[in-house]
Amino acid sequence: MHISSRAQNIEPFYVMEVAKAASALAAQVAHTDAPMVFLNIGEPDFTAPPLVQAAADKAIRDGVTQYTAATGLPALRERISAWYGNRFGVDIAADRIVVTAGASAALHLACLALIEPGDEVLMPDPSYPCNRHFVSAAEGKAVLLETSAQERFQLSAAKVESAWGPRTRGVLLASPSNPTGTSIHPDELRRIHAVVRAKGGMTLIDEIYLALSHDDQFGHTALAIDDQIISINSFSKYFNMTGWRLGWMVVPPSLVPVIERLAQNLFICPSTIAQHAALACFEPESIALYEARRAEFKARRDYFIPALRELGFGVPVEPDGAFYVWADCSELCAKLELKSSWEFAFEVMNRTHVAMTPGRDFGTAQTAQFVRFSTASSMKQLETAVQRLRAMLSTV
Ligand SMILES: Cc1ncc(COP(=O)(O)O)c(C=O)c1O
Repeated sequence: MHISSRAQNIEPFYVMEVAKAASALAAQVAHTDAPMVFLNIGEPDFTAPPLVQAAADKAIRDGVTQYTAATGLPALRERISAWYGNRFGVDIAADRIVVTAGASAALHLACLALIEPGDEVLMPDPSYPCNRHFVSAAEGKAVLLETSAQERFQLSAAKVESAWGPRTRGVLLASPSNPTGTSIHPDELRRIHAVVRAKGGMTLIDEIYLALSHDDQFGHTALAIDDQIISINSFSKYFNMTGWRLGWMVVPPSLVPVIERLAQNLFICPSTIAQHAALACFEPESIALYEARRAEFKARRDYFIPALRELGFGVPVEPDGAFYVWADCSELCAKLELKSSWEFAFEVMNRTHVAMTPGRDFGTAQTAQFVRFSTASSMKQLETAVQRLRAMLSTV
């Protein structure tokens, strides 16, 4: 069968290969005294709060399960709009919000709406791999720009300005970022957007970890800067609803009908049940639970980073949000005579039953030196991981 070059050009998602190997090993060691600890998974160990579960249940029992508008339930768009006001102090009209099947569908729609074949989109290296692939699925080209710890592994205005070429269409940023958990400072973001606007390009920003911010200087939405910025968001991370497949995007008013037309044709609508359930995310009781969980994510970070450093990992920039730690394992690799973080992740996984994600997926610049840990597992799991890593690494 002929496979399109579009499909062939999508690289494998190596995270998934690691996850497959980790699951296979987990089955073998499940009943030993060292069952698998999964620090490779980028999703909260929490599930949706009781009110959200009850709302889903009610929607099913009441039979409120027909298609909704392609842009989502008006009531949900209103609740998201109110949340932007309460939480971030920005006034976002509900009719600029399009509810989607996760941030993934929003990214797909944005790329299809804005990218012509051959257009280039600038992104940081390292960054979330699927973002590159949404661009290539729209027949554009992701241009990865190497970033440094000094830049918080984010793009700067100067870098965007000097990388801008005749085919550049815009930037795709993520703040806080996966895999680094680091954000772009709002002043730098303002400068980046000014460069993009001056070039007539688009600023697309993935803010799916924004509500999981642990530092007030960074926890501001880019939407406060300009209503021409496109922001992607999701119920997956802060709202603990990964498998419910629900997210949203905020777009400039002129783009709403374009996205609506695409969404109608490609998806009809996001899951109706998930949308009814998500209305309950914004109840004070649910928000209180989400905030308690956010504090727990911060406590995990504050425990895990010093522990990693003591084990010999480098953490060049403290993550200010999300639940990831981008850790330099090059010194440990040298001691263990391993060539890369890929080999390191497998060696550690096989010897300690602790799974992490090698840097390979996230770019090409220094990714052979780095691994990504997810701290979305319980404190107890993190402590177990540290004990096992200490037992292994103290002998080298
Ligand atoms: C930066 C980033 N963007 C988008 C996504 C996709 O999220 P969703 O579950 O909302 O499709 C992820 C998932 O891990 C992510 O880390």
